[in-house]
Amino acid sequence: MFNLDNKQALITGAGSGIGAAIAHRFASAGAKVWIADRDKKGGEKTVEEIKEAGHQAEFLLLDVSDEEACIQSVHSACKEASLDILVNNAGIGHVGTLETTTGDDMDHLYQVNVKGVFHMMKAAIPFMLEQKAGNIVNLASIGGLVGVKDRLAYCMTKFAVVGLTKSSALDYANQGIRVNCICPGRVETPFVKARLAEYEDPEAAYREMSSTQPIGRMAQPDEIAAAALYLASDEAGSVTGSALSVDGGWSAG
Ligand SMILES: NC(=O)c1ccc[n+]([C@@H]2O[C@H](COP(=O)([O-])OP(=O)(O)OC[C@H]3O[C@@H](n4cnc5c(N)ncnc54)[C@H](O)[C@@H]3O)[C@@H](O)[C@H]2O)c1
Repeated sequence: MFNLDNKQALITGAGSGIGAAIAHRFASAGAKVWIADRDKKGGEKTVEEIKEAGHQAEFLLLDVSDEEACIQSVHSACKEASLDILVNNAGIGHVGTLETTTGDDMDHLYQVNVKGVFHMMKAAIPFMLEQKAGNIVNLASIGGLVGVKDRLAYCMTKFAVVGLTKSSALDYANQGIRVNCICPGRVETPFVKARLAEYEDPEAAYREMSSTQPIGRMAQPDEIAAAALYLASDEAGSVTGSALSVDGGWSAG
């Protein structure tokens, strides 16, 4: 069992889906978790559940597209102890091709999915350099490794997250800081459920989406959290710069 005893972790977007599952996993493994989300209700719910299970959690209201707020949230977590783990999970989706995606759509997605990760990493790196230790896990996507039909802007932002992960992994490899990302395929979260609701026949769309994964089903959020726990643990000490696919075989073809 991977252990995070005496570690502090800050997880963005932990008020829902994959981020909430990661927060639960990390807290059960012994970490104190900071739940940072722009959704106060969702974030506080995750905190409450973790505390009820007898673990440590605190909420931070945060919009990752706001650079100053990212700096403040990292400072809040670092006030008490070292920031050992940063998980940049907050992200938004978008459906569209070149014809249907506007420049404003592109800017909005870039601001959250790319700049949000960039701001958080930039805020955390000085602390991690001083500690001579740190661990960053970014949530990219299968859409950061291969093209996905009708997801132009989303794929562009997730390819950027893979690039940001790999380049910074090299920059800090000899300073005790590891940087990795996870590339999930389809995961059954509110994010995907919202997409399904936009289809005329959501059940048919659900079957269609599941069939894109060779294992024939979507992943559950906790299966992505298990990968995050591995990457955040000392057992992954020699893993940096990796883009770990958790996609039911989607990217293998
Ligand atoms: N669900 C999937 O199939 C899937 C697949 C591949 C990658 N991902 C990635 O995993 C991550 C989590 O996805 P999910 O499915 O759990 O989504 P979700 O919508 O269930 O949860 C996302 C959380 O992020 C928060 N958030 C969104 N924008 C924010 C912002 N600007 N600042 C702070 N918090 C913000 C939301 O409030 C929400 O709590 C995303 O980066 C997503 O791109 C998801």
